[in-house]
Amino acid sequence: MTSTAPETPATASTAPGRPASSAALIPRPRALKVLGGTFVIGPHVGVRGPEPAAGLAREVLGLTGSGGGIELRLTDDANLGDEGYRLLVRPDSVEATAATTVGLGWAVQSLRQLHLDGVIPCVEIEDRPRLAWRGSLLDVARHWFSMSFLYRYVDLLAMHKLNVLHLHLTDDQGWRVQIQRYPLLTEIGGHRTGSATAHAEDSPLDAVPHEGCYTQDELRALVAYGERRGVQIMPEIDTPGHVQAALAAYPHLGNDPGCTLSVRRHWGISRHVLNVSEESVRFVCDVLDEISDVFPFGFVHIGGDEVPPDEWAASAIAAERIVAEGLSGPEMLAGWWAGRLTTHLRGLGRRAAIWDETLDFGLSGDPLVFAWQGAHRVGQALAAGAEVVAAPYEFTYLDWREATTPHEPPAIAGDLPLSVVQGYEPPAGVLGLQGQLWSEYLGTPQAVEWRAFPRLTAIAENGWSDNPAEPDDFRARLSVHLGRLDRMGVNYRPPDTGTDRGDARPEEGTDG
Ligand code: ACM
Repeated sequence: MTSTAPETPATASTAPGRPASSAALIPRPRALKVLGGTFVIGPHVGVRGPEPAAGLAREVLGLTGSGGGIELRLTDDANLGDEGYRLLVRPDSVEATAATTVGLGWAVQSLRQLHLDGVIPCVEIEDRPRLAWRGSLLDVARHWFSMSFLYRYVDLLAMHKLNVLHLHLTDDQGWRVQIQRYPLLTEIGGHRTGSATAHAEDSPLDAVPHEGCYTQDELRALVAYGERRGVQIMPEIDTPGHVQAALAAYPHLGNDPGCTLSVRRHWGISRHVLNVSEESVRFVCDVLDEISDVFPFGFVHIGGDEVPPDEWAASAIAAERIVAEGLSGPEMLAGWWAGRLTTHLRGLGRRAAIWDETLDFGLSGDPLVFAWQGAHRVGQALAAGAEVVAAPYEFTYLDWREATTPHEPPAIAGDLPLSVVQGYEPPAGVLGLQGQLWSEYLGTPQAVEWRAFPRLTAIAENGWSDNPAEPDDFRARLSVHLGRLDRMGVNYRPPDTGTDRGDARPEEGTDG
């Protein structure tokens, strides 16, 4: 399972008979003026400017020339912020300016969208994002995906100016990241002998083994690939619940060490959680030490969602801990866990990110709160004084089906049409917006792309664009943008149910 960055990114290729180039960008820039005329990327056109933006331009625009033509420049214009850029395309030159190489990278992604068959329409753009965090969660725990697909996915995020990949690495149904100090996490926790075919606790199992994990070196290479594209990778180690795969490997971390667990095959939530011993805290801290070494991003997500307190209610160690900490009951031990891990991460120079259950157990240590349990939780988290990423399920859970059509593949819930995602306006004051792709029913890259696109383009737009577009304006740009996705071979779900390829299923098959 070794993999390196692909030499050719998922970039637009040329094909005869394509529609004319268009200035219809997603996300919509703050200001865009079509000037008339075109810039042609001839064989001698090259790029000058700082790395990694210049290299990125060569890559995604397929530049072969060593001359000039495209100029990328850093400026000290404070109006552009950390990610803004200006772009001026004229018949004889392309100039992009930004205060950072990240901003220059977004200018390059705009050129990538504008360019068709080597022709770029002349435009003047001034652009910057409204939200600092524009994220996409991918659950690689319920299903493992190949490194080559992760590269492709990061590249697709970058193309839409999404800047964080939230990698959900561990859960009841699989542990996917190598931890040197605890090799059984992947040796045992990275395999399951089958998967449920539906969501109910008593659903039939398919008896198809599923396995996979990522070495630390593979993930470091992915981090470097993302960094070059302005996409940071936030790892999630889900604790103190959603840990059955870890408990299958190291039963002494559970509340009943005599109980032998296997990696969970059913979906839903395991009732087995970490015990509250110092040894278990040490274990998670050791894991976080290695994770922080692999992922340089400032945030590490520690989970904190859906923690059944039943085992703690029956545990003598938990009873002692509750008394010692002056807690009101076993469920509050989830907050105690969050506090311990938040403090440990602070010692590593990182900030904890955590699901919004933490609002009910005490907001200790200033974590970044991911409000998922409905849009009202976004408001509650803000009111509690937290920094917040809006991830409410009824607007951003892209694993939900878009609509119910006769041949729609199974999904955990629905319906969540594109129009609803597009219509979500996160409240003022949030740090960001994020789309979620839980993968219980996403077994292949094709299935991921089917659910992600085009709804993730609406998340990108609402995260970036200052005045969210009217639905008709968004749809008009999307119709052009779908051509770009077609040329990249993205298995998107046609936005209008039952038309075009609307009844097509994501292809079955093995992960790329
Ligand atoms: C979650 O959906 N359990 C965060």
